[in-house]
Amino acid sequence: MAKPALHYRPTRAEIDLKALRHNAQLARKLAVGQSLLGVIKANGYGHGSAAVAAAIEPYVDAVAVAFLDEALQLRDNGVRVPIVLLEGCFSAAELPLCEAYNLQPVLHQQRQLEQLLATPLSTPLKVWVKVDSGMHRLGFASHEIAMVSQRLTAAQHVGEVTLMTHFANAEQAEHPLNDRQLAAFEPLIGFATRLSLANSAALLQPFGSLQHPDIRRWCRAGIMLYGIDPGLPRLIAPLQPVMRLLAPVIGLREVKRGDTVGYGSRWCASRDSVIATVAIGYADGYPRHAPAGTPVLAAGQRLPLVGTVSMDMITIDATDCPQLRLDDEVELWGPNLPVNEVAQQVGTIGYELVTRVGARVPRIYHD
Ligand SMILES: Cc1ncc(COP(=O)(O)O)c(C=O)c1O
Repeated sequence: MAKPALHYRPTRAEIDLKALRHNAQLARKLAVGQSLLGVIKANGYGHGSAAVAAAIEPYVDAVAVAFLDEALQLRDNGVRVPIVLLEGCFSAAELPLCEAYNLQPVLHQQRQLEQLLATPLSTPLKVWVKVDSGMHRLGFASHEIAMVSQRLTAAQHVGEVTLMTHFANAEQAEHPLNDRQLAAFEPLIGFATRLSLANSAALLQPFGSLQHPDIRRWCRAGIMLYGIDPGLPRLIAPLQPVMRLLAPVIGLREVKRGDTVGYGSRWCASRDSVIATVAIGYADGYPRHAPAGTPVLAAGQRLPLVGTVSMDMITIDATDCPQLRLDDEVELWGPNLPVNEVAQQVGTIGYELVTRVGARVPRIYHD
């Protein structure tokens, strides 16, 4: 018998494309006079990169992913805008593919530079050069940029060069490293015709300034597209959450005071309680280390997670929510329960929670 193409388990991530477009439009508005790069690596921060790319295409000038495989998947799905590879190439064999598929690799270290200079290409390849201005993760040292620029300029098969750097503390505008990073970057701006510094936090809450009349800028917006606050002390812009993670109640039981719930018997009822079991677990990306008390939205109320998160299930204390029924859907995060609120309880950030939503959770798109 042919299997019908539907999902029998109602657990799903609903993706609000209207909210996504609202956020992209906002990024476009904030990036006055700049080009906008939509960051859609890690499967569009877990939202589905092809659908995200299609929705934001009218608002962005290019999109960015981490590496070639992610870019080729977008091309397979008909995405046509230029794609930047934020980690660049892992081997020289990728460079002809960058040319063939209109991809712009970042060069962040010497070996990538040598491989590019030694690879014959028939059309000039646009590249991004990353400067380590103080984050100390990736990038050429400031003093190497003159040499890199000179060698790229001399190569016939290298096109426009964008000079980029990444802030370690953009969400804290007053952090002293921001000024040091800007000071390290500023003397280099004459080495390229384009610059790129800001991520979502720096776009939402700009700090410092780099003045240079001839320089065009790229702004790299990621998390804000998905309606998630990057962790600013005060969110100024009206972002709209894009993902709503939902799962059904599949069990309801009464337990007695002193009974324990779940693996390791780590939670013990301090009163006679009602426990609701919900069909989502760590195999779906719900964090296994979520502690008791992590909020879950059920029947319009925030209810506490209790007991250890299992592979396919969680348990919540529904004692104070007598209206909760079997098959009711609970929101793990979304418009009514900010993912950052859950993340804070779990000791992580919204970025991690959304990117880890598992492949077995269908993404259902609403327009
Ligand atoms: C180099 C680079 N630029 C931009 C971004 C987007 O950052 P955000 O999602 O905070 O906007 C990232 C994301 O990690 C990144 O690695």
